[in-house]
Formats: sequence, structure tokens, C-alpha cells
Amino acid sequence: MNHFLDIHTTDPADLRAMIDTARTLKNARKGLPKGTPDADQPLKNHMVALIFEKPSTRTRVSFDVGVRQMGGQTLVLSGSDMQLGHGETIADTARVLSRYVDMIMIRTFDEAVLHELAEYASVPVINGLTDRTHPCQIMADILTFEEHHGPIKGKKVVWAGDGNNVCASFLHAAGQFGFDLTFTGPANLDPDPEFVGLARQRGSTITIERDPAVAVDGADLVVADTWVSMHDSQSTKERRHNQLRPYQVDETLMSQAKPDALFMHCLPAHRDEEVTTAVMDGPQSVIFDEAENRLHAQKAVMRWCLGK
Ligand code: CP
Ligand code: NVA
Repeated sequence: MNHFLDIHTTDPADLRAMIDTARTLKNARKGLPKGTPDADQPLKNHMVALIFEKPSTRTRVSFDVGVRQMGGQTLVLSGSDMQLGHGETIADTARVLSRYVDMIMIRTFDEAVLHELAEYASVPVINGLTDRTHPCQIMADILTFEEHHGPIKGKKVVWAGDGNNVCASFLHAAGQFGFDLTFTGPANLDPDPEFVGLARQRGSTITIERDPAVAVDGADLVVADTWVSMHDSQSTKERRHNQLRPYQVDETLMSQAKPDALFMHCLPAHRDEEVTTAVMDGPQSVIFDEAENRLHAQKAVMRWCLGK
């Protein structure tokens, strides 16, 4: 049994195997109606709890559909409806849920909740986003990049905007998959220096560049995300928008990257804020492939968690 808590704490060979499995699983389903069961049913008789303490469209639906395609069943739970939101400890919740279900996916605020759940659960726990990281998203993004452009090793990724939870998991992936990452954004929204340091220690070139036009030079991939995340106070919105406006990804910025550079966004996007509609709907955008690939990547993650 394995927990999937973060990319930097998962063995690189296992991460690579998960991406390869995801590609195989995706190819095997080409042209089939969405509800068709997979040829093998590794989650047959398995029950999976999906806990959400924050809103979600993609994570909720892709995990639910993925479990069903592999023959399992899901319980989708909202944190606030559980005793978890009313004073029961995480450790007790973990021990109770482990008696009912075979795997737990949780989207929460403080990453300490995720880690405590994993510590006390006797079934695998998967990180479906915390304030600090979003590893499932980046597994889907690696799969997406490689489908379009081949191996990501040695490539240049540029993150434009807030050095947030999704950016953190990209930094983790840089260290594990061997690509370089340039962050461009205002200094007060820089990514966590601990994660920058870790990626550098693992051999990646991590650059902080305040000028977005300089940052995207030679980029194979440009990535944006919302300027205000779910865990950010709405009171910071106006200040963040003012600070981040120069980092909007528009057609001019994309034209300064490599001609075949891809554009990614984990979604949900705020059109014409962090990215223009022209870029989102333009030829370099692979945002809906990313969304689809959540399904395939997470199926590979779940199989790995259960040793299947
Ligand atoms: N990208 C992502 O995690 O989307 P949701 O918030 O809709 O799950
Ligand atoms: N950074 C965003 C990602 C949403 C999928 C957030 O945490 O709100």
C-alpha cells in the first residue's frame, strides 16, 4: 500500500511508471463511451471515499469516473457535513474511515490534515489539493506535455503569476522528472524557497525572473493559474490583481516563447485575467487535454496506491 501525498516524496521511478501506465490506460479507451468499464477491473469490490473541504469540478468528477471505470464504487463526502468539520480528530476519522473504505482521496486546506490522515489511516490516502500542493494536477500535466512534445526531461517550463500550490507541485516535478522551471511574478508571491532549493538540489535549473518577456524566452511550456486561490482571503484580491496584471499570459507573451510552446492552466480559469481568451482557445492551448488527463493520470495513481 502506498500513499500519494506529494510528488517530491514519491520515488521518481514510480512517478515515471504511473505516467506510462496512464498513457496505456488512456490509449486502451480510445473511442469507447465514457461509461465503458476498463478491460481489467482492479478496483472491483473496492470502495473509495472522496472528501472535499473545498469546491471542485475536475477532481471530483475525474476521481469518481476513474474509480467506476476500474470497477470500484465511490462515496463523495463534503468535509463540512462530516464530524471532521465539527471537532472529531483527523486521527479518529482516519481510523474510522479505514474500517469502511479501501482508499481515501482528500481535498483540504492545511497540509497537516492530509499528513495526519495518512499517518493514522490503514488504507492509501491521496492528496486532491491542499493550500500547499496539488500533485494529481501535475501528473496530468506531465502526461499532457509528453503526449504533445515527447519527454519533458530537459525542457523549460515557465510559471507566470502566483507561486501557489500548483506551482509548488510543478517545482517538485521539475526535480523528479528533470526539467527546468522559471518563475515569473512579483517578489511577494514567489514560490516557497524550500521547494525551489529542493528542485535545485535534484539538479534542475530554477530561475526567478521578474520580467515575463525575458522569462518565456526559449520556453517549451507556459503555465498560468488563478491569481486568487481558494485558500486566499478575498480581501487580497484587488492588490493581487494590480500586482499580477503584468504577468497575464496573452498572445504577445506566447509569441516570445518557442514557436511550438504549449499553454497550460489547471482550470478553473478567470478568462482575461491571468490568461486571455485568445490564448485559452488558441492553437497552443492544451487546457482541455489537461482536464481529461486528470482521469487517466489518477487512475494510474490509484492503481499504484493499491499495488495493482
Ligand atoms: N484543476 C482542479 O483541480 O480543478 P477542480 O478545482 O475543479 O477540481
Ligand atoms: N491554485 C488554485 C488551484 C485550483 C485547482 C486553488 O488552490 O484555488
